Amino acid sequence: MKIGVLTGGGDCPGLNAVIRAVVRRSIANNHQVIGIKKGWKGVLEKDFMELNLDTTSGILHRGGTILGSSRTNVYKSEDGEKRAIENLKAMGVDALVAIGGEDTLGVANKLHKAGVNVVGVPKTIDNDLNATDYTFGFDTAVNVATEALDRIHTTADSHSRVMVVEVMGRHAGWIALHSGIAGGADVILIPEKPFVIDEVCDIINKRASRGKNFSIVCVAEGAKLKADENEQKDGSFVLSSLKKDSFGHVMLGGIGNVLAEEIEKRTGFETRSTVLGHIQRGGSPTAFDRVLGTRFGIFAAELVQKGEYGKMAALKGNKIIAVSLQDAVGKLKTVDDELYSVAEAFFG
Ligand code: F6P
Repeated sequence: MKIGVLTGGGDCPGLNAVIRAVVRRSIANNHQVIGIKKGWKGVLEKDFMELNLDTTSGILHRGGTILGSSRTNVYKSEDGEKRAIENLKAMGVDALVAIGGEDTLGVANKLHKAGVNVVGVPKTIDNDLNATDYTFGFDTAVNVATEALDRIHTTADSHSRVMVVEVMGRHAGWIALHSGIAGGADVILIPEKPFVIDEVCDIINKRASRGKNFSIVCVAEGAKLKADENEQKDGSFVLSSLKKDSFGHVMLGGIGNVLAEEIEKRTGFETRSTVLGHIQRGGSPTAFDRVLGTRFGIFAAELVQKGEYGKMAALKGNKIIAVSLQDAVGKLKTVDDELYSVAEAFFG
């Protein structure tokens, strides 16, 4: 059988570990593997490369994806579904392993319903994919953001400043929450918990009143003001750009700068902001993400071997299990109150 592998959406540390594992196990199962380039774009353009032990050697520790990625949505392109099915046939693909987040796997799920043999692997630094405890890439992003917070601490302390650190997280605040707890942030703002600027300033003032000359605010890019405070009708605080990708997502980034200005104005404390951006997505995966990606890849190859299509490899506790693609893409996994309350114990 010929197995196709693709990586779609934002890139993520650990993608190459998954590709390598799918190839290793599939070749051991006597199958041929091709890598479809740039996610669904490669399916629409029949753009692929051979994947074998040579082409996947030495990639385990490398960030990004050797296949390239894109945010191309098959269903936004004319006759997309029909063309995708025809092209997969033309490339000789009998089964497809789609490695991606909600958008990529949403397309995989639709194609599966249209008759394509697909299995999924959960990828996103945001960790917001449903039906799995963790996605690979998240641990690396949290470690990068935590190291940044540690570094921000020393300069904040030296200059007696408030430092606002903006991290990724469009719909869910997992990176902000985990790195904020690990990096000792004094306030953590996430999309799930709309905030009031004066309450943020109160926390900073409270710290100052007990002699703390600096504060660290960790804010997810998708954090929102409470409705009555909101000056923008769409519920978002500040959008640096109104450009949208082919899944309709507005490109975010900018809340940190605006919040920093507002904090300085309202508290009088000198405030700076740092936007971590794509630094969180680039570079080498942590050991945890290499292991998780490898386990997901081996499991996905076994799902193909058993003909269990329409499923996704997922982490539940310590075990890798199969869940339906439908469950994975039905809704996003957002931060729960219990974890947020752990962080709140250290606010102020
Ligand atoms: O990978 C997911 C994500 O990191 C989001 O948190 C972020 O909004 C988005 O990617 C930005 O990606 P890009 O700039 O590549 O469109």
